Amino acid sequence: MLHRALTQARRHTHPIDLIYGIQTSGFVPNFLTDPGLNIFKIGLRENNHYAGCQPSCVRIALRSLPDTAQFTFYDLGCGMGRALITASEFPFYKLIGIEISGELCAIAEKNVQKISDLFPGRAKISIDRADVTTTQLKGGKIVVFMYHSFGRATIGILICKLEQLAIAGSSIFVIFENPVNGDLVDQSIYFKRWYAEQVPCDPDELNHHSDTDDGVVVWQSINTVNLYESRCSDFNIITTKPTWRAEIVFEEK
Ligand SMILES: C[S@@+](CC[C@H](N)C(=O)[O-])C[C@H]1O[C@@H](n2cnc3c(N)ncnc32)[C@H](O)[C@@H]1O
Repeated sequence: MLHRALTQARRHTHPIDLIYGIQTSGFVPNFLTDPGLNIFKIGLRENNHYAGCQPSCVRIALRSLPDTAQFTFYDLGCGMGRALITASEFPFYKLIGIEISGELCAIAEKNVQKISDLFPGRAKISIDRADVTTTQLKGGKIVVFMYHSFGRATIGILICKLEQLAIAGSSIFVIFENPVNGDLVDQSIYFKRWYAEQVPCDPDELNHHSDTDDGVVVWQSINTVNLYESRCSDFNIITTKPTWRAEIVFEEK
């Protein structure tokens, strides 16, 4: 079944796959990629399905950040590596993807090898096969990306880990595309909004996404110097499809 899902995925090639000659297209349900999950348990939805992010949304979020040359980029739940490869277009110290599925890690490894062959000057990308709930995130300066990869409990665990890093003095930006359960980051006293928009996808991405836009929110750990106060806290995260989609709506306070 997994093989069939991956074969079907190759028939609907996303523009980023055509540009780089990589394979990140399609949809792989979570019961095929998580050995601990069977079809009867998918309703629990802690480990979400594989679908690649929209690079247009990742680029908009990354362009909002200050100089990232000394930052490590983490993609939590990196799937086939699409967000990592998009982020490698930007100056990072290194990029790390964490993914629970061995099959998706193997595909991501091949994809990142292609990028390092094509662009030897880009920062190194590595793939770590692991469960994000038990992985230690490291670094004094980190950008953490998530694309609706987890359920609420997992996001809660990750925020605790990030808070510990912030308390220890790390500078952290959290980028969340389709920020279902993003209210948990809003509730953290160690993070503050940096950016929030409902971002239109690029026209050539529209056939590869169920929606024409995605909510994108960026938070900054509060120990970061030059804390940037902006009106993005007036943009609320509204869950429009429970457990599935969250949109950004402007409500002046
Ligand atoms: C929606 S996809 C996001 C893919 C990638 N971040 C991107 O933007 O292209 C979610 C991914 O998270 C992975 N995942 C879910 N739970 C995980 C966990 N606990 N630890 C590591 N990876 C996980 C899934 O296997 C899936 O590949």
